[in-house]
Amino acid sequence: MRLAFKRKLIILPCLVFLIAVGNVFVLVYQHHEKSPVKKSNQTVTVLIHEKAPSSYNFLKALRVEIKETFRRYEAKEKTVGKNYQKAAFYKKQGRYRRNSIAFPDCQPTPFLLIEVHTTPQNFMEREAIRLTWGRPQNAINAANVGEQLNPSLWKTVFLIGHTQNKRLDELLEVEANHHKDLVFGNFIDSYRNLSRKMAFGVEWASKHCQARYILKADEDSFVNILEVIKLLKKYDRMYSRNTPLYMGAALLAKEPYRDKESKFYVSEKDYPRPTYPPYAAGAGYVFSGNLLRNLSTALKVVKLFPNEDACFGALMQHNGVSLLNNDRFIPFSTGKAVYRKEGGYSLCRFHSPLVIHRVSGILQIQTHFNVLVLRHVPTICQHIKHGIGEDDNFVDDEIW
Ligand SMILES: *[C@@H]1O[C@H](CO)[C@@H](O)[C@H](O)[C@H]1NC(C)=O
Ligand SMILES: *[C@@H]1O[C@H](CO)[C@@H](O)[C@H](O)[C@H]1NC(C)=O
Ligand SMILES: *[C@@H]1O[C@H](CO)[C@@H](O)[C@H](O)[C@H]1NC(C)=O
Repeated sequence: MRLAFKRKLIILPCLVFLIAVGNVFVLVYQHHEKSPVKKSNQTVTVLIHEKAPSSYNFLKALRVEIKETFRRYEAKEKTVGKNYQKAAFYKKQGRYRRNSIAFPDCQPTPFLLIEVHTTPQNFMEREAIRLTWGRPQNAINAANVGEQLNPSLWKTVFLIGHTQNKRLDELLEVEANHHKDLVFGNFIDSYRNLSRKMAFGVEWASKHCQARYILKADEDSFVNILEVIKLLKKYDRMYSRNTPLYMGAALLAKEPYRDKESKFYVSEKDYPRPTYPPYAAGAGYVFSGNLLRNLSTALKVVKLFPNEDACFGALMQHNGVSLLNNDRFIPFSTGKAVYRKEGGYSLCRFHSPLVIHRVSGILQIQTHFNVLVLRHVPTICQHIKHGIGEDDNFVDDEIW
């Protein structure tokens, strides 16, 4: 599934511009030159709104930032990204002896710790996150709240296991020392070991980074960071420090996959009961840091089974914590181009999403900027509904 999606990304890249035309602002997407679906030299009007002086400066800054972000992403894709692709090609060559790896530093302790489950070779997914919602030290994130963001408001780290690929390990060592945001667990990184990754995330945070809240995300999850922070700050004001929180898109009475051929297969031996406890979909869930110690204790008793999010639900159930459903967490989204009518989605169709699943690489950047523009100019969706842009969509379909 991820592979098919990846291939799509190669055909879809486009350039984004924000331009001022008369008294309106227009966000324009232009196809990448190499795109086979490009029809001549078209640009497409996307977002239109009346120009207010405060918007003007913001949108001008945003235009610079958009260009710069795409430039950096593409530059990395051609260099380090390529090295990862090549390295991933070589399978098992035995373990590389790591010299010394810098682990993330949790000082000062962030309000929100974001733990992203990442796959060793997916460097560009990590890079897209670093360039957008991953870090508070991002000019545009700050511009949106109209103040310099506290750098310890949130911190993003990537959880990763061992590879059996020496070349990949060498690259990872360089990456870890450069960004100091990779946390290596002592297990082989594989799909069926994701519960180990989850457990490791709990242990690591419990020992080294007891943030007030923890958000677990996947590397293809888009996190609407400013909204997540706003919600958690509100929660923090309303409830006492001891109140436990476990929140996400609730999945109820789900049955384990018993089909041995399935990627999601869970044996009766691993999990004997017919249904899982209530759990939040793994694309994104939040819990309070005051639960870390108890979760860590539960890990000594509750048997892990190869379904990371359901397994986390079992740990919560063991601790008697109930799940709070929030439909602003959007799992199982189509993952197609953000702006496409057919099978895709328009941000206008969501009510202030917190996490959207299957937003990958360059789509992270597009979604990030669209969310920021929407936040700044909330009337855009009304304009679109009333006919500007001809469709309830950010982009005219024609060019696709
Ligand atoms: C595309 O647009 C540019 C600048 O707007 C122009 O110079 C160029 O000739 C156009 N190309 C085609 C194929 O229309
Ligand atoms: C999970 O990690 C453990 C520890 O490294 C390893 O022994 C095991 O083979 C891994 N399982 C899979 C399915 O990769
Ligand atoms: C953790 O477990 C202890 C002992 O069972 C319990 O008293 C405490 O309330 C739990 N903490 C939270 C945050 O649920």
